[in-house]
Amino acid sequence: MREKLEQIKSEALSMLARIDTQKELEEMRVKYLGKKGELTAVLKQMGKLSAEERPVIGQLANEVRQTLEKVIDESAAKIERAMLEARLESEAIDVTVPGKRLEEGKRHPMYTVLDEIEEIFVGMGFEILEGPEIELAEYNFTKLNTEEGHPARDWTDTFYIKDDSSILLRTQTSPMQVHAMETKQLPIRVVAPGRVYRKDEVDATHSPMFHQIEGLVIDKNITMADLKGTLNTIVRRLYGENTVTRFRPHHFPFTEPSCEMDVQCHECGGKGCRVCKGEGWIELLGAGMVHPRVLEMSGIDPDVYSGWAFGMGLERLAMRRYEISDLRLIFENDERFLKQF
Ligand code: PHE
Repeated sequence: MREKLEQIKSEALSMLARIDTQKELEEMRVKYLGKKGELTAVLKQMGKLSAEERPVIGQLANEVRQTLEKVIDESAAKIERAMLEARLESEAIDVTVPGKRLEEGKRHPMYTVLDEIEEIFVGMGFEILEGPEIELAEYNFTKLNTEEGHPARDWTDTFYIKDDSSILLRTQTSPMQVHAMETKQLPIRVVAPGRVYRKDEVDATHSPMFHQIEGLVIDKNITMADLKGTLNTIVRRLYGENTVTRFRPHHFPFTEPSCEMDVQCHECGGKGCRVCKGEGWIELLGAGMVHPRVLEMSGIDPDVYSGWAFGMGLERLAMRRYEISDLRLIFENDERFLKQF
């Protein structure tokens, strides 16, 4: 038995010398010191020994156990230290490597213009509204007094989503007028910016997707004078106090009377030049007094309430503001272009 114990000890010690992972170490602990381990097996046979031998072997067995426990613990600590060192090494940061350059983003020029417009309207007590780009034909057309069969509803101009022409990509932000009238308490003062879609080929002034901002005011005793006063104020804030405007009669199904608003060309002061294509004026927006039938369809009594609305293209506004000559530049998002603003 004494030999068996000595053998266990020397075998365990030489095995330990080759161990370098926590898993192996744990396996070895179980093999020698575990409940079913080799040392335990020896101790279980102590009963067979004579009374003189028992204390001597008992003491030896204890010594072997203590020795093994001690070296296993030491080995465990060593392995842990080695693992930590390996980790520190692999995660070390080389402070001499040059840093990655952070490219700073910028607000898109069109959104800068939109921010300015929104701020002016908010300052005048307007609320900003956003609504769906996928819209019911009912809101994009019918409730805007544009019945079935109206040329504006043609498949050649509109991206319909359903074959029965009931759902589409909105062709204008004007359906937001209907959403506002149906959901807001009177009086209403809202602007609604967003994307609109039309089947246009891409060129210097056209894109199948562009942006508009819609405005709507409804209250008692609202007149065309309010429309002109408000729009003139907006334009002067945007382009300067000396900006000259004019209102031309026009037609929209959902306003009556309707008009378009032009600003005098900033380049030639109205004489006619390349920028205004010889006109002296640049068209800015469509507007008008909300048609009584439109009010009625949204549940507002046209005998009590009246209102005005406008719709304005944002790309055109940004192009004029920053003297951008080609609409495509606004959508291409070429950094060389965007960095200039
Ligand atoms: N929705 C019209 C357009 O896209 C603009 C408009 C809006 C006209 C509101 C009158 C009132 O051209």
